[in-house]
Amino acid sequence: MRAAVLEAVKQPLVVKELPDPKPGPNEVLIELKAAALNRRDLWIIEGMYPGIVTGVVLGSDGAGIVAEVGEEVSGRLVGQEVIINPGWDWGREERAQSDAFRILGMPDHGTFAEYVVVPVEYVYPKPAHLNWHEAAALPLAGVTAYRATFTQGQLAPADKLLVTGIGGGVATFVLQYGVAIEAEVAVTSSAEEKIERAVQLGAKSGYNYTEKDWSRALLEEFGAVDVAVDGAGGPGFVQLIDVLAPGGRLVNYGVTGGVPPVCPLPKIFWRQLRIIGSTMGSPRDFERMLDFVNRQRIRPIVDRVFPLTEISAALEHMKRALQFGKIVIEIQ
Ligand SMILES: NC(=O)c1ccc[n+]([C@@H]2O[C@H](COP(=O)([O-])OP(=O)(O)OC[C@H]3O[C@@H](n4cnc5c(N)ncnc54)[C@H](OP(=O)(O)O)[C@@H]3O)[C@@H](O)[C@H]2O)c1
Repeated sequence: MRAAVLEAVKQPLVVKELPDPKPGPNEVLIELKAAALNRRDLWIIEGMYPGIVTGVVLGSDGAGIVAEVGEEVSGRLVGQEVIINPGWDWGREERAQSDAFRILGMPDHGTFAEYVVVPVEYVYPKPAHLNWHEAAALPLAGVTAYRATFTQGQLAPADKLLVTGIGGGVATFVLQYGVAIEAEVAVTSSAEEKIERAVQLGAKSGYNYTEKDWSRALLEEFGAVDVAVDGAGGPGFVQLIDVLAPGGRLVNYGVTGGVPPVCPLPKIFWRQLRIIGSTMGSPRDFERMLDFVNRQRIRPIVDRVFPLTEISAALEHMKRALQFGKIVIEIQ
């Protein structure tokens, strides 16, 4: 099979032929139609991720057709259109993942390939309203956004929601989820066009986080927010604390902008704020996310589609933050 392999860190992925994998007991072989990029792939290639293993096919998101099943798996799955839950071995606690938790696409071979082998418990039916590109765009970002917004952020209809860095893959899902339950949504971005896209998708307003006073403008026009969902951190994190309503919740799932330099504790305790960390999601989050996406007929925003042979160009596109939504890799 053809696959994009991490041969060494700080080097482009190498697209090459590998032997076709075989499913073992309780596993299935999936012939992939499409995969999608996540910031994690970039962190790994840049050598900025814990426990890097080389010689591995990267890629956490994929959609395709079950081609073969291993022992103990029903043969009726062959030919089914499926997506993959990339969060493996979450463990028994809903509150947080176990030490065994890992993400598909390092150390296990991932989805930037014609075939992938996956334990059957992580295989779910592809939502019928999605095409292959949209289906591949859903799993990792979709579940991260679901847990951050609902399980951790407890967003409710009519709440005011702020989503930071709206060009990001997870952020676009948070916006769509918020709009779907009729929360009032504001966004931040470095680009006016992205704010306009967000408004077309149902955001009420948007603010450019590269402008120093964006948080004051938000407070004046949109008002203090009940829930902020952030994947950027960085120096602007303090402004997120400033825009929270008393008792508000700030959910963070990433640090694209770096670790915040200060932590204004007095504002946090006096205004009874909650700062909550969130990472991917449990199998229950994944199932609830799929159910929500199916019921609300949410269609992931696909920014651009690249062939597997152009995976380095796709990664560069993400690195330059040119995207709005998910970057998809067409496999076949
Ligand atoms: N914990 C988890 O389970 C989990 C899961 C998925 C992702 N993540 C992390 O979450 C982050 C986002 O990942 P992603 O794949 O969704 O996004 P992405 O596609 O990598 O996009 C990142 C976006 O971040 C925004 N951004 C950059 N610097 C910013 C800043 N200083 N302030 C506000 N926004 C900023 C940009 O938005 P604009 O273009 O609009 O300016 C950019 O488009 C990454 O750090 C990733 O590692 C964590």
